[in-house]
Amino acid sequence: MIISLSKDVVAITKEQDVILFRNRVKEFAQKIKMGLVNQTKLITAASELVRNMLRYADGGQITIEVVSKGRENGIRLVFKDSGPGISDIQLAMKDGFSIGKSLGLGLPGAKRLVNDFSIASEAGKGTVVTIIKWVNG
Ligand SMILES: Nc1ncnc2c1ncn2[C@@H]1O[C@H](COP(=O)(O)OP(=O)(O)O)[C@@H](O)[C@H]1O
Ligand SMILES: [Mg+2]
Repeated sequence: MIISLSKDVVAITKEQDVILFRNRVKEFAQKIKMGLVNQTKLITAASELVRNMLRYADGGQITIEVVSKGRENGIRLVFKDSGPGISDIQLAMKDGFSIGKSLGLGLPGAKRLVNDFSIASEAGKGTVVTIIKWVNG
């Protein structure tokens, strides 16, 4: 069972919000003594997702949480937007799908950097992406 220990919500509407968000994630990760390598992986994945949120959905809302499972602590990030949604998630998750459109690591790259990655989307309604990075993951 995953328990939420503390929580913050960050609204993303413009480019500058991205920097504030990244700093907030870093603070949360440092609070639970996540190592620098995992911090960097988490922030890199989070950056891709927040960029997608701005680019494709004109922004949204991100929940940052400290979570625990047994004796393990981690950070959970939930990216929620009310954009156009992703009609074919399988296709969007394919390596190389984004090539030509940007140089980012894309959704599959973000997935590889975290321990848990789930995406739910409905065309016309929006997208919710949830990631978890454990301190020792
Ligand atoms: N939040 C989102 N809302 C709507 N579409 C999205 C969202 N995130 C990703 N997508 C779609 O999924 C595709 C793949 O995303 P990604 O792997 O990040 O590659 P890229 O952003 O370089 O195209 C995007 O091209 C876009 O069509
Ligand atoms: Mg992208």
